Amino acid sequence: MKNVNDLQVNGKVVLVRCDFNVPLKDGVIRDDNRIVQALPTIKELLSKGARVVLMSHLGKVKHKEAPEVVEAQKVKNNLAPVAKRLSELLAMDVKFCSVTRGDELKSMVSSLKNGEVLLVQNTRYEKGEEKNDPELSKEWASLCDAFVMDAFGSAHRAHASTYGVPEVLKAEGKQVAIGYLVEKEVKSLSKVVNCEDRPYIAILGGFKVSDKIKVINSLLKKCDKILIGGAMAYTFIKALGGNIGNSPCEEDQLDYAREMYASGKILLPEDTKCANDFDNPTETKIVDSKDIPVGFQGLDIGPKTMKKYEAEIAKAKTIFWNGPMGVFEKEAYQSGTIAVCKACAELKDAFTVIGGGDSAAACKQFGYADKFSHVSTGGGASLEMIENDGHLPGIDIIG
Ligand code: 3PG
Repeated sequence: MKNVNDLQVNGKVVLVRCDFNVPLKDGVIRDDNRIVQALPTIKELLSKGARVVLMSHLGKVKHKEAPEVVEAQKVKNNLAPVAKRLSELLAMDVKFCSVTRGDELKSMVSSLKNGEVLLVQNTRYEKGEEKNDPELSKEWASLCDAFVMDAFGSAHRAHASTYGVPEVLKAEGKQVAIGYLVEKEVKSLSKVVNCEDRPYIAILGGFKVSDKIKVINSLLKKCDKILIGGAMAYTFIKALGGNIGNSPCEEDQLDYAREMYASGKILLPEDTKCANDFDNPTETKIVDSKDIPVGFQGLDIGPKTMKKYEAEIAKAKTIFWNGPMGVFEKEAYQSGTIAVCKACAELKDAFTVIGGGDSAAACKQFGYADKFSHVSTGGGASLEMIENDGHLPGIDIIG
């Protein structure tokens, strides 16, 4: 697969698909990591004298909703703040095109000079983006001479900007390549897709078992043990006959949970920190996970479980972690997630990967991000990469 480094693009227009789907509140970027991670590819292209056109989605724009709802979603998911942040990070003017197709976009692209950067408005303003509409792909492809896929976080989406555009350009014999971020992600995630160093321990948390079915199926074939935490643990515990009080449970996943548990590879929390109210608890306690009282819900793994999980992690040579152990956003329920961060951080001779999303946010919040071998920028993408044995449509199309 060609890499951005292999491209000859002096004076050429290069369209780079990035993942600038960053957390925004009232137009303020809360975490610019995805923008920072895109810089090496952009800088490489600028040093080659390319005219760089960046595209990304931001949030959701549901085109089936009423026009005023769609309009509000567009206002909320305007990419303009990203252009501003990019200008600061690159220490140069990054132009911004507020429309996603048509004459204004064409004219802004054609007036770019070598070494200049233009960011195009949110690709999801276009109804055809998520449908991989061929007309839209052709129009976007017609803007450029070459394409670089650097949006690892969106590589599981076969959309117009991630799949249709490179497909058109390849058919026309134009240059397509992956960027440095995608290269780094693939290299690291390949080690948890095709594990060589064992024991291989997966740590899974988060809310729903149903979100993780495919990845659990795949991980059961690949890894030695799966440590379960977060709200999804209570579906397993109920499936095995435990009383889970008012903890969340997916009744339609009980059979599946029993079946998975029968593999012998799944470890569940022995004890749980629970509370009598999520927002304003008057009582919290540590109880046996199979005996959570009515009126209480589990919100973190307990100390015995932390010890048990720490001991498993200490033996590991490969770790894949996706999903926090508890409601880490609240101080009272952070301990389990911190214990996992710390246990992974203390490993001297292991390859440790965080599969994006909330666990990436947690390890950053608790100051452990630089202690992991790799923290992926893609939550859904890293899970799908494991599920599909290393394949993602937005990367496969480049090869
Ligand atoms: C993400 O944040 O996981 C990616 O940017 C993909 O976003 P999506 O789930 O809205 O396609």
